[in-house]
Amino acid sequence: MSNSVIELIQQHGSVRNYKPDSVSTDLIETIVAAGQRASTSSNLQMYSVVVTTTAEKRIQLMALSGNQAHIGQAPVFLTWCADLSRLERVCKLQGYPHESGHIENFLLATVDVSLVMQNAALAAESLGLGICYIGGIRNQSQAVIELLNLPRLVFPLCGMTLGWPEQPPRIRPRLPMNAVLHWEQYQPDDRSQLLAYDQAMLETGIYRGRQVSGGEAKTSQEYGWLEHSARRVSKNHRPELRQILIDAGFEMK
Ligand SMILES: Cc1cc2nc3c(=O)[nH]c(=O)nc-3n(C[C@H](O)[C@H](O)[C@H](O)COP(=O)(O)O)c2cc1C
Repeated sequence: MSNSVIELIQQHGSVRNYKPDSVSTDLIETIVAAGQRASTSSNLQMYSVVVTTTAEKRIQLMALSGNQAHIGQAPVFLTWCADLSRLERVCKLQGYPHESGHIENFLLATVDVSLVMQNAALAAESLGLGICYIGGIRNQSQAVIELLNLPRLVFPLCGMTLGWPEQPPRIRPRLPMNAVLHWEQYQPDDRSQLLAYDQAMLETGIYRGRQVSGGEAKTSQEYGWLEHSARRVSKNHRPELRQILIDAGFEMK
């Protein structure tokens, strides 16, 4: 069973090679408007997006996001932010205290941002544009906050490159569906499913050349999804985030 929306979704691949051609303001606004149609917790719309098109600022964002070359190459960089500052103003207007510092508020905003981003990503892809999410934007969050002039209660959760793909993206296999789909009650995935997926990812060659990244050297047959993922989650990345979030007003009470 398929249709044009499902086909579009199935063709998704992150784009990391862009043509130099610009993306019009009209297209960017169309994409953000599509993002805004996403469902949002209690219609609170706890997000904002900062669009960066000037080369100088894109290069600065690239430097702050782990020097990923495709950030400098893409004509547009979108910084998707959790934004509780608007509701601070709403509370002031209505004469209520703003209980912004609770974990629940951060979760609400994080889910809202995720939905907006993904709607926008699909809209972009439907127009022939390519995107790549950039978690690297949290490498140096405080510097990004300052560069983009983000006020208190606004936090840059995720970046996104946007532009015209140089070539169609590679489609990465996903986990077998029965590893993620549970009927009625949770069933842990079994080892054979994970090994099969590891093999499928090895065959794409996507991890080739990464056998020494951040750990003991492995042969290319040993460095697949299992090794990649285990290495990724075996370290505490960005430990400074907790304090930066607290300083930005997200106290996680
Ligand atoms: C929240 C998030 C952050 C990501 N950050 C980066 C990033 O900093 N750099 C990058 O090249 N890709 C990044 N990606 C892209 C993922 O690597 C990619 O989605 C994943 O490997 C699956 O590949 P696909 O999107 O091509 O299917 C990110 C994806 C998500 C959802």
